[in-house]
Amino acid sequence: MTAGYLDLLGPLGPESTGPTQDLMLSGVVPRVYERWWRPALGRVAKGALGPGMAEERRIARLLLGLAPGDRVLDVACGTGAFTRDFARAVAPDGLSVGIDVSQTMLERATAEAERTGVTEVAYVRGDAQELPFADASFDAVCCFAALHLFADPFRALDRMGAVLAPGGRIAIFTSARGRSTPLRAWESLAQSRSGMRMFERDEVIEALEQRAFHDIRQRLTGVTQFVGGRLRNA
Ligand SMILES: C[S@@+](CC[C@H](N)C(=O)[O-])C[C@H]1O[C@@H](n2cnc3c(N)ncnc32)[C@H](O)[C@@H]1O
Repeated sequence: MTAGYLDLLGPLGPESTGPTQDLMLSGVVPRVYERWWRPALGRVAKGALGPGMAEERRIARLLLGLAPGDRVLDVACGTGAFTRDFARAVAPDGLSVGIDVSQTMLERATAEAERTGVTEVAYVRGDAQELPFADASFDAVCCFAALHLFADPFRALDRMGAVLAPGGRIAIFTSARGRSTPLRAWESLAQSRSGMRMFERDEVIEALEQRAFHDIRQRLTGVTQFVGGRLRNA
């Protein structure tokens, strides 16, 4: 146990996918992440009419269909704003587990959980592409603002499907390419500079269908998308 979280990586960690990923490992970004960084960059990506942070949390809860007693996994949890929200939704008998690769993000996440008195929460340092949990051990899996940062997002989706119990729910918030040629040209440039993948509009839906998800819903806003689905019963 390190600073309130279980570290399953030690000095190891997944290969960096670029400058955006590197910033998440820094000491500065976690300090300003919840209050400034995430709301501001989220607003730019979602567009002026896209949902704010409170609405994002509501979307996540709805897509995940959380109820007291559920076991929920927050993949790439960052400082844990969503993880804490899920913990409140699954209390008193459930558990909300946040996993992230960044030590500095997790230090902040554990401190915030303590400061806010949220108890049904646990944090693990690990790689989303190698989720270190037994198959079918969660009722719901969330991955917000991170799938586009992974070197192999489809491997991460494989693992998210595997750790979900039959009938389990998934919620994803990630990038979505625009349709206009100038916007797509700008996105290609941003992608190569930042290391953030821009998904085609149907790519995540198709990836979920291939992994036995159904009842898939998508909301596009700005250059982002919210996608939810349910794993078929075995
Ligand atoms: C933009 S933050 C998203 C945090 C939170 N989910 C949210 O919506 O605000 C992206 C997070 O992904 C984490 N991350 C990036 N690659 C990862 C990987 N391979 N495994 C686990 N976490 C990863 C980063 O450390 C960072 O905390």
